Amino acid sequence: PRSVWLSRHGESLYNLYGRIGGDADLSERGHQYAKRLPDLVRESVGGDRPLTVWTSTLKRTISTARHLPDNYNQLQWKALDELDAGVCDGMTYQEIKDVYPDDFIARDEDKYNYRYRGGESYRDVVIRLEPIIMELERSEDILIVTHQAILRCIYAYFMKKDQTKSPWMNVPLHCLIKLTPRAYGTDEVRYQADI
Ligand code: G3H
Repeated sequence: PRSVWLSRHGESLYNLYGRIGGDADLSERGHQYAKRLPDLVRESVGGDRPLTVWTSTLKRTISTARHLPDNYNQLQWKALDELDAGVCDGMTYQEIKDVYPDDFIARDEDKYNYRYRGGESYRDVVIRLEPIIMELERSEDILIVTHQAILRCIYAYFMKKDQTKSPWMNVPLHCLIKLTPRAYGTDEVRYQADI
């Protein structure tokens, strides 16, 4: 592809309370980011060429993409949903530590391979993203609005970084990332919304 645009969803109510997973809608700040996103995208595209938007099936990514222009086609992919935290879905990290102390330690020791009870590991996510990556490779002008864990894996793929390190990568909120693959590496430009 010429370029790929990546963004996390805007801040959600769960982000605000420190809860993981779930299907919460955006916070006030998150809504502000959604309103700002069309301008960030226009600035980064450098023209009026429409992008195609891929979101997950969860409210917070769909709401984030809501204000993009009507001529941007939108597609929802289940494969872009957040890493499934299984029995820990909806908990805070402190609650996980209290209820599943051994799991909390095991995850810290091997975050890439650790699979939540009834849920997924980062390794699982990398596998379920394969069709997305294949489709991306033969598409142009795609903007992906998804979740932190998913973005870490997609980002690592394009930046040719070691996937086993991606679980620790920080992907900031309210930041649009434009990646442009070149012969000798991938160019990256970040557009941070000041909200
Ligand atoms: O809400 C979950 C995060 O996006 C993933 O965070 O894998 O660092 O716990 P974590």
